Formats: sequence, C-alpha cells, structure tokens
Amino acid sequence: MSENITTTRTMTAWRQSRYGGPEIVSAERVDVPAPGDHDVLLRVRATSLNAADHHLLRGEPLLLRLGLGLRRPRNATRGIDVAATVVAVGARVTQFARGDEVMGELPGGGALAEFAVSPAARLVARPAGLDAVTAAALPLAGGTAWQALEAGAVADGQRVLVIGASGGVGTYTVQLAVLRGAEVWALTGARSEQLVAELGARRTFDYRVTDVDALPAATFDAVLDIAGTAPLRTLKALLRPGGTLVVVAGDGGRMLGPLGRMLRAVFVSIGGAGRRIRPLAAVAKPEVTRELASLAAAGRLRAVIERTFTLSEAREALAHIDAGRTVGKVVVDVDPFADQGRTGRRSTPEF
Ligand SMILES: NC(=O)c1ccc[n+]([C@@H]2O[C@H](COP(=O)([O-])OP(=O)(O)OC[C@H]3O[C@@H](n4cnc5c(N)ncnc54)[C@H](OP(=O)(O)O)[C@@H]3O)[C@@H](O)[C@H]2O)c1
Repeated sequence: MSENITTTRTMTAWRQSRYGGPEIVSAERVDVPAPGDHDVLLRVRATSLNAADHHLLRGEPLLLRLGLGLRRPRNATRGIDVAATVVAVGARVTQFARGDEVMGELPGGGALAEFAVSPAARLVARPAGLDAVTAAALPLAGGTAWQALEAGAVADGQRVLVIGASGGVGTYTVQLAVLRGAEVWALTGARSEQLVAELGARRTFDYRVTDVDALPAATFDAVLDIAGTAPLRTLKALLRPGGTLVVVAGDGGRMLGPLGRMLRAVFVSIGGAGRRIRPLAAVAKPEVTRELASLAAAGRLRAVIERTFTLSEAREALAHIDAGRTVGKVVVDVDPFADQGRTGRRSTPEF
C-alpha cells in the first residue's frame, strides 16, 4: 500500500450501476481509491472519451459482458485516457513521484472522476509544452492509429486509403501516415473533408457520395478501415498485390459487434495474390504514448478536439460519443484550474 495517504477522503466520480445509455450515469461521492504497491494515485486533470467507453457503458457487444461483468462493468467509472498529476505512489513504484505530470490509458477506465488509480507501468511522463487536454486526447485513439499503420506496414512512398478519417482514430491515422511519408486518400463525411485535407490527405471523398467500389482497384499499398461498413472483398480488391487491409472496426450487431467482421477477415484473407487482411485489436502501449506525446509537444501531431466538457457535464460528453458522430476527439477537462495553481471547488487531500 501507499505510504503517502494519511487521510481517507471522498471524491466525485461518475458511475454506472448497470449497462445502458448515457442517462444511467450519475455523479456520486465515493472514497478516493487507494493505490496498491505497483500503482499511483492520480489527481485527474483531463480524460478523453472513446468508442471503447461507449461499449463499456452499454455492455455491447453483449459477448463482452462475459469478460466485463454480466450485469454491470467491474469498474463503474468510464474514462480510459488520462492526463493527471501523481499525488501518491505505491511502495514499489520507483519511476514516478508526487507532483509528476503523467498520461496514459487506465485499464478498464476510471478517469471520469477527481482521482483515479493506475498501475505505474501504464503511464508515461507528460512532456513540458503539452497541455493536459491535448495529452488526454492522445493515448487510445493515437495508439490505435499507430498500431493500425504498423499492421499495414505503411512506409514512405506508399499510397494509403483511410476509411473513416474524421473520427478520433481517423484524424491521427491520416497524420501519422503522412509522417511516414505515405500519400493518403481519405473517405470522410463531407463536413470534415477540408479538415482531413488540412491534416495531410492528398485526396478526400465524401463517403455518402463515393462508394468504396468506385475507387480505383489494385491501387493502394494499405487500406485502413476505421468505419467498418464496406464489404471486405471490395476493400481487398483495392489493394495492390502485396498490400494489406487493416480492419480496425466492424458493424456486426448487438451480440458480436466488430468481432464477427474480424473473424470473417481471417477467412477472406486466405488466398488473393498476397493481399493480406489483418484484424486489429489495439492494446495500451506506453512506449507508443510516449512517441505520440513527443510528436504533439513538437507540434508535428495535432489533436483535433471537437468539444471540451467539464466534469459536471460528463453525461453530455458520454452522449456525444454515444452518438458516433464525433469529429476528432471529445475531452472532459476535469480540473480546468490546475494550470493556474488552483483546483476549483475540489477539496485537496493531504498526503
Ligand atoms: N480495433 C481496435 O483495437 C479499435 C480501437 C479503437 C477504436 N476502434 C474502433 O474504431 C472505430 C472508430 O473509433 P473512433 O473513436 O475514431 O470513432 P469516432 O470518433 O466516433 O468516429 C466517428 C467519425 O466517423 C465518421 N464515420 C462514420 N461512419 C463512416 C463511414 N461509413 N465512412 C467514413 N466515415 C464515417 C463520422 O463522420 P460523420 O459524422 O460525418 O458521418 C465521425 O466523424 C470505432 O468503430 C471503434 O470501435 C477499434
């Protein structure tokens, strides 16, 4: 246990006691969690919400509940991405100390709250010059984009198609592909075409007007499917021999969700002139978060933030994500006064 906690305190946390839509969450007073030996206690500065939070909130696909909890998720508080200040460290934590600014992905969530606990190994230092709101927008979506580009072996001089370029994962995928030297074509909603071009896409298409099968066949070294609606065989036909389709998303109904499409991808990938299909299951990679943070701090990677909410507006923030129409990211600025040396109306625990 931590040596630093001397007082039991309570905090505000947004919690769910069952699966459902954003209306089921409520702000509750609960105990500040205690860090274990390998954990740190964080004062949350900001969290960004992801499609994963929507899945955990609703318990969908239903198959997920076998692992997450049949009636409610084990962790009642959403918010995986976090930027935070370390306020206490577990007995075996050596890499962080009180006062360090950190960022990363909390296993299962917990950041829609004033305090959260995380294994120290899941976190990296937040670089100077990277504000907390931007830092919170990076880890999960940026990490997924990074892993998708790795899976697609995207490299300098290649032509890449990004389908679903305007969301959290999509906006990072376009930028990181361009940073790798690829020429990016993007399918996106009409309202986001200009944004996606500004992020570096050479050509953009409105997905409601241009079907994927209207794009030139055998043209792309990699197709990164972040929308999950087009037939896999159609997407495969867009690849040059030796090219790779990376399946990031899928629309497979309430029971299986993306898993059905991911399984189909394995079968469709058999045969086909060396054209590969790779289903992606991204995982938290602190070393990737560190790279993303340093690119963002250097001004080379932009976090597109559609809207920032306060902690008291967490339900609205979840509803925004739940609607699936986000352009870039949605961030909850949990402690907007921290940079001014104040903590708003929040009580300050003594450690
Ligand atoms: N495999 C993994 O490990 C992994 C990890 C993270 C996320 N994901 C999945 O990746 C997907 C994207 O996540 P996200 O957080 O980036 O979602 P998001 O931010 O909610 O994406 C929403 C955006 O996608 C656009 N869009 C919707 N349907 C589209 C289509 N058919 N074609 C092109 N664009 C479309 C929307 O544009 P309009 O509003 O203009 O229509 C909106 O801007 C989700 O399905 C998520 O579950 C998978």
